[in-house]
Amino acid sequence: MRGEIRFLLDDAPRRLTQFDPTMTVLDYLRQTEQLTGTKEGCNEGDCGACTVVLAKPENGRLRYQAVNACIQFLGTLDGCQLITVEHLAKEGRLHPVQQAMVDLHGSQCGFCTPGFVMSLFAMTRDHEVAPDEATIDDVLAGNLCRCTGYAPIARAAKSAYDLNPRADSFAAGEAATLEKLEALRDDETIALGGAGGRRFFAPATLDDLAALYEEHPEATLSAGSTDVGLWVTKQMQRPATLIYTGRVAELARIEETAGAVEIGAGATYSAALALLARHYPDMGEVIRRIGSVQIRNTGTIGGNIANGSPIGDSPPLLIAAGASLQLRKGSVRRSLPLEDFFLDYGKQDRAPGELVERVTLPLPEAGSIFRAYKISKRFDQDITAALGVFNLKIEGGVVAAARIAYGGMAATPKRAARAEAALLGQPWNEATVARAMAALEDDFQPLTDWRASAAYRMKVAQNLLRRCFIETTAPDSATRLAGAALEELGRVAG
Ligand SMILES: Cc1cc2nc3c(=O)[nH]c(=O)nc-3n(C[C@H](O)[C@H](O)[C@H](O)COP(=O)(O)OP(=O)(O)OC[C@H]3O[C@@H](n4cnc5c(N)ncnc54)[C@H](O)[C@@H]3O)c2cc1C
Ligand code: FES
Ligand code: FES
Repeated sequence: MRGEIRFLLDDAPRRLTQFDPTMTVLDYLRQTEQLTGTKEGCNEGDCGACTVVLAKPENGRLRYQAVNACIQFLGTLDGCQLITVEHLAKEGRLHPVQQAMVDLHGSQCGFCTPGFVMSLFAMTRDHEVAPDEATIDDVLAGNLCRCTGYAPIARAAKSAYDLNPRADSFAAGEAATLEKLEALRDDETIALGGAGGRRFFAPATLDDLAALYEEHPEATLSAGSTDVGLWVTKQMQRPATLIYTGRVAELARIEETAGAVEIGAGATYSAALALLARHYPDMGEVIRRIGSVQIRNTGTIGGNIANGSPIGDSPPLLIAAGASLQLRKGSVRRSLPLEDFFLDYGKQDRAPGELVERVTLPLPEAGSIFRAYKISKRFDQDITAALGVFNLKIEGGVVAAARIAYGGMAATPKRAARAEAALLGQPWNEATVARAMAALEDDFQPLTDWRASAAYRMKVAQNLLRRCFIETTAPDSATRLAGAALEELGRVAG
């Protein structure tokens, strides 16, 4: 056991033995380190004012990722380099992304600008050349600005590349930083006692994690803490024991086997996105719209399943694709179809001390149709009002197989059994689709909440099935916002 966490603050080593396990990185920076450049806006992962960058060793290089400091717990910094807005300017010279923000009038208010700068800094590590506008929009979607808008910031994002942002002090120091971080790595479980008797554990191996959780079934597991962080910052909960899973490399593994993709519960959206999008393009697009870059860099697919939310995006995608779930308690493993994991609102088929280990996603069958549509009030960085996912096989004009799952329509992510039955064995035509749309009213009695009314949800769920029909039978129909339609929307909104 190791009784401390070790990380680099820029290039200065830090070793912490005593701290409140629920202290956020943001509070640590502002209150302990007196680094107040990183701002607190929403304190719930939405606005990006608290964006910092974490660098971690990956395949012999450093991987830099923007994260929201307000919902990251301090203990998760172990083994990382933490970079804040204070660390970008070196020897009295602004970093190229800062200089571009000044030159292009992107520096608009003191609250949001540090977060924008950090997101752009992370972008320059990910992209060797200036990315296209859609990518820049995606990079900035997790940084909210309510004053004069995004245009000067987006221009600064592009023009920063004229100032050679990748040839900076971080590039010059990369080998030395990598060496320092590698020296911090070990396989010891971190075990700390904190304020008020609260405890923090961070095992490094899957066996240790499973054993620890079996021993402490009352503990709160925390992966990306994009949910758990909010329990602390918004609901003022203080879990007595926190077990952080993010040091367990085996839990984050993503592997392609013959006919399936194995996704470790600790895999982040960012890590899984490219592979999932390759096999299931619509799944990739929905995942790309989960939260923001900052949320996707830390939020995990396992966390999205384990939290059992009826409006989580990955469960309906994975259920429709026929995924199964592997759970583990101590050394005992069991598997079940993912849809059987969700029993009722807030209730999952998971015993105390049992963790979600991985999800197995079959690759699409040849000739199958997979469509997924997320409906939310705002296009990017918003929680789902309704999500419809359709996995169909049409043979000789007849529906030979149908797996349909919805989010936001019931107390759990759920298959539309009656609509599937209305389709199976029937010709894939308007009349069949109309019957299946009607059957959705037997499948679901959605709720009204502030995201959508019950009537809206039902209407939209039915129309998404129809949209799937139109896209598969009249593929030239304009059913998606793209190109000119998106530009027009931006013009009207802007
Ligand atoms: C700003 C913002 C935007 C968001 N947008 C979206 C969105 O668009 N779509 C969406 O679906 N979600 C969204 N979320 C919710 C959240 O990001 C996801 O649910 C995420 O996948 C949770 O993963 P995590 O690793 O952060 O989980 P954590 O917060 O670490 O944990 C979540 C739950 O899972 C449990 N848990 C974690 N790992 C395991 C495990 N291996 N075994 C058993 N239990 C485990 C935890 O104990 C906890 O109960 C958003 C959140 C924020 C803050
Ligand atoms: S303060 Fe708003 S995202 Fe962290
Ligand atoms: S930069 Fe802060 S509101 Fe626009």
